[in-house]
Amino acid sequence: MNATRSPQPAAAENFIPAEWYVGDGVTRAENSRLWPRTWHCAGRIEELKETGDYFTFELLDDSLVIVRIGDNEFTALHNVCPHRGRRLKDAPRGNVRDGLYCGYHGWVMDLDGSVKSAPNAEDWCPGELGKLRMLKAQLDTWAGWIWVNLDPAAPPLSEYLGPAVDILAPLGLEKMRRAWHATLRAPVNWKVQYQAFNETYHAGATHDGFISYKNLSSQAVLHGDHAVFYSKRTGPCARRDTLGQWHEITDLREELAANFIHQYRNLHALTLEPTFRAVNRLLEEVPTGSPPEQVLAELWRLQREETEKTGAEWPEALTPENFARMGTDWQLFPSTLVLPSVDGALWYRILPSADGRSCLHDIWALGRFAPGEEPEIEDLYFDSFEDFKGVNPFLEEDFANLIAVDKGMRSRGWAGAVLNPRQEPQQLSMMQAIQRYISE
Ligand code: FES
Ligand SMILES: [Fe+2]
Repeated sequence: MNATRSPQPAAAENFIPAEWYVGDGVTRAENSRLWPRTWHCAGRIEELKETGDYFTFELLDDSLVIVRIGDNEFTALHNVCPHRGRRLKDAPRGNVRDGLYCGYHGWVMDLDGSVKSAPNAEDWCPGELGKLRMLKAQLDTWAGWIWVNLDPAAPPLSEYLGPAVDILAPLGLEKMRRAWHATLRAPVNWKVQYQAFNETYHAGATHDGFISYKNLSSQAVLHGDHAVFYSKRTGPCARRDTLGQWHEITDLREELAANFIHQYRNLHALTLEPTFRAVNRLLEEVPTGSPPEQVLAELWRLQREETEKTGAEWPEALTPENFARMGTDWQLFPSTLVLPSVDGALWYRILPSADGRSCLHDIWALGRFAPGEEPEIEDLYFDSFEDFKGVNPFLEEDFANLIAVDKGMRSRGWAGAVLNPRQEPQQLSMMQAIQRYISE
């Protein structure tokens, strides 16, 4: 990063210096003090069907092999051979029921991390190999995900996540399954990518292709280092026609339909088949100009009906009241973002690169499916924003800014961010949490 910069304005609470975002020293400190000490979702439980099934989780220089070792038991072993340190499993997924074989000298490790066999074992002193273990990381499960933490002294996951666990519980995330999954390599700092998705202030300017989000505002509630924001409309919604002209929408049914259909067609997430069908029925079955409470109650009823028609389970605990408490978007510090919806969730994970100049953004659309009808999905990979073109029009609007943001943040002309005090306090909290981790 450049040594000389514009002078910083007088320190204000909502001012974040540029160095905190893209400073090389901050990146190095994040790599050693933040990432190995925080909880990250590693993958979905349903990816590990049989005993011995594993996937790997890569975080900077570390790699974990996450293995199903029993009915409801998993382990996270550091993916490294205790002999001379070869990364044990090269393949990102597979089965190690018979042990973890190292191709360098042929050692085999058991699922508890001990050495099961080694060629010429008699060359070592008796008992020496028996003492060796692959190290384990902390592992826990929540919301259908396997979570890991490289720090043996980190607090337990449920304590770490705080109120999110109870607030999101009625959604039934653990019963959801992946509708699709994509991994995108983004050539920007991880915070640039993450913070494009933990506020709604950008929506009016960034997402103006189909529906107008200009009359939208949000309020964040901080929960320790985590946060959730609640978006609400502050004025009429508008829709663009095929000629690019805006039309104000005055009927609530039409507003809901325009929003949900836009998500269904262009985001391919949050609104899946049940709500898509429900809003189409709302337009047909509920008269124009019906009172808002009636429209919303009817929509909820139709969403449940359409979900159950598919054979998927509707969570008994899910009510309009507790769904409203779930808000629009959760920042689960530092790597996870969760957007709950009636049909499922949009789940993001953003992980850094060692030099702070790129990141990996995993995107999962979760949905409710009838048992046995869960889609067989392919894990898609895109090496750049360019590669992602044509995949998801909604997310492409978000991504369109991010190279320019990363560039701007590294320029001499930018001293730091002046956050929106009302709509971006979760970003302030996130940046302060990073500073706390790296200075502790
Ligand atoms: S490094 Fe694995 S067996 Fe030698
Ligand atoms: Fe966005």
